[in-house]
Amino acid sequence: MTGRGQSLVLIGFMGVGKSSTGHALAARTGLPCVDTDEIVTRELGMSVSEIFASWGEEKFREIETVALRQLNETPRGIIVTGGGIVLRSENVQLLRKLGKIVSLEADNETLFRRISQVAPRPLLQTEDPRATILELLRIRTPLYHQAADIRVDTSSLTVNEVAEIIVQRIEEK
Ligand code: S3P
Repeated sequence: MTGRGQSLVLIGFMGVGKSSTGHALAARTGLPCVDTDEIVTRELGMSVSEIFASWGEEKFREIETVALRQLNETPRGIIVTGGGIVLRSENVQLLRKLGKIVSLEADNETLFRRISQVAPRPLLQTEDPRATILELLRIRTPLYHQAADIRVDTSSLTVNEVAEIIVQRIEEK
C-alpha cells in the first residue's frame, strides 16, 4: 500500500447500493463515511437535480473533482462516490491515492429494480430510462472494471453481506 491512502472507496452505477454499503462498512469499521454527492451539494447549497438543471452535468463534474481533491486532505474513511466519478481519469487517479477502490456491481435486472426504488436521478429523466441505463452501462462498465482493486457482484447479496465480503477481501490483500 506504499504511496496509497488507507481509505475504502466505493464506486459503481447509480442504485447499486454504494450509500447503504458505505454506511454498513462505517458501522463495522468505526470509520467515518463521506459521500462525494453530499460534498458537492453542500458546497453549492443545491440538490444534485438542481445543479444539473441550473448548471448542467459538466459543472457538476467539475465540482465533483474539486471535492475529491479536498478529500485527499481528510483522514481515513469510507468514501462513497457518484456513479459518474470514473468518467474523468483525473478522478480515478485521485481515488487511487485515497485507498483501495471497490467496484459494486449487479446484473441489469437487479440494477433496474434497485434504481426504481431510489430517488430519481437527473440523468435518467429520459423517455426510455432502461435504454439510458444500458447505454450508460456500456460506456461505464469498462471504466469501473479498470479502476477497481476489488469487484463485488451484489446481485444476490444483502447490504451486510456485501460489507462483510469487502472487509474479508481487503484483509486478504
Ligand atoms: C450520477 C450518479 C449520482 C449523482 C449524479 C450523477 C451518475 O450518484 O452523482 O446524479 O452520473 O451516475 P449515485 O450513483 O449515488 O446515484
